[in-house]
Amino acid sequence: MADLALPDAPDAPGVADDGVWLHCIECGRDHAPFDDIIYTCPDCGGLLEARYDRYPTFDGFDGRGVWRYNVALPFEAGVTLPEGDTPLHRVPRLRESIGVRNLRIKHEGMNPTGSFKDRGMTVGVRVAEELGVDRLACASTGNTSAALAAYGARAGLQTLVLLPAGKVAAGKIAQASLHGARILEVDGNFDACLDIVQGLADRGEAYLLNSLNPFRLEGQKTIGLEILEAFRDDHGRFPDRIVLPVGNAGNTAALYKCFRELVAGGDLAEEDVPKLTGVQAEGAAPMVEAIEEGLEDTRRWEHVETIATAIRIGNPVNAPKALPGIRATGGTAVAVSDSGITAAQRDLAEEGVGVEPASAASVAGLRKLREEGVVDADEDVVCLTTGHLLKDPDAAAAAGSDPEPVANSTEAVLEHLAE
Ligand code: F0G
Repeated sequence: MADLALPDAPDAPGVADDGVWLHCIECGRDHAPFDDIIYTCPDCGGLLEARYDRYPTFDGFDGRGVWRYNVALPFEAGVTLPEGDTPLHRVPRLRESIGVRNLRIKHEGMNPTGSFKDRGMTVGVRVAEELGVDRLACASTGNTSAALAAYGARAGLQTLVLLPAGKVAAGKIAQASLHGARILEVDGNFDACLDIVQGLADRGEAYLLNSLNPFRLEGQKTIGLEILEAFRDDHGRFPDRIVLPVGNAGNTAALYKCFRELVAGGDLAEEDVPKLTGVQAEGAAPMVEAIEEGLEDTRRWEHVETIATAIRIGNPVNAPKALPGIRATGGTAVAVSDSGITAAQRDLAEEGVGVEPASAASVAGLRKLREEGVVDADEDVVCLTTGHLLKDPDAAAAAGSDPEPVANSTEAVLEHLAE
């Protein structure tokens, strides 16, 4: 079983490099971070987690964006576009209609390539430089490939992306393409693509930058740090709950790590840790199944389908890190319908916040949990919206209103408007 407990005073093991090492959450062994390229534990195959000889505190942060939090990261600076520092929108009408004390939307679609993946890549590609690799690779439902292509280009490295054929939104493929990634379309779903790319990485063909890579999650931790700082500045306390869409459960794992480190450093009381609440689409909900059935790991779903193609995932690789996080924080997981996702996408759009379908799942999930009475009316909630509306222009156009053809004259337009 995964052991995610952090020691009170971390003592760097001999394998540490500049106070950083990789710790196996299954067998507890420590590994050197930058000597050999490893993604999982060489001894037992368990998931690895970056560990430090220090814990972050709020007064140690300086600057803006992801690298403001460099005391909590393996390097002082990275390959940057720059990323992070995303808005925490107020959505008063939506708050009223869902019925919670406070509702804020952390819009990760405002990152440079339009998703939270940029936070992981600014760190992950910096690590790739440290390791001296020349080719980066990922499997992707789209956003990871767009971010990897952009950050790889920025670093002057080759990138290879494997995508499930016919299931990636147009904006994401356009990004990977223009930034110069080599794009391979696989006749299979995301999970099959990840199996293949892991095979390539194991053979030394490319450096894997999926969220299985523990350094990616270090960058994504900064979502939590930004939310906590901004929410406290505005409301004088930390939010009760953070609701987020779940695919591979990388963000869920990253947020939990953020909280654990702040608790260990003494800046966050255990009782103030926000409840991590994961949302999946009904057609791709192995994490929800695992929470409902009390499983230690997810069961792989071979057939997955949802309008939220970004989270069309049946085998969440970070489940052993994320399930304990949901449970330990008193959170939960919920599945939402595609129609609920589209309705939430429209609700956000009415407040001026444009997101792709997977992002809207967080708001759809919150509404459902509020209706079921799982979320209370007096809660302060932050919903994470993970990707920008323009990522999936087809879904946006289908959810929005249709253009109306009119004749080419002012009179005709006036007549049309009067109809
Ligand atoms: N939201 C969006 C917009 C995503 O692109 C993803 C994952 C998630 C949520 C789920 O995040 O995996 O941390 O639970 N997209 C990956 C990709 C799989 O390839 O772009 P997670």
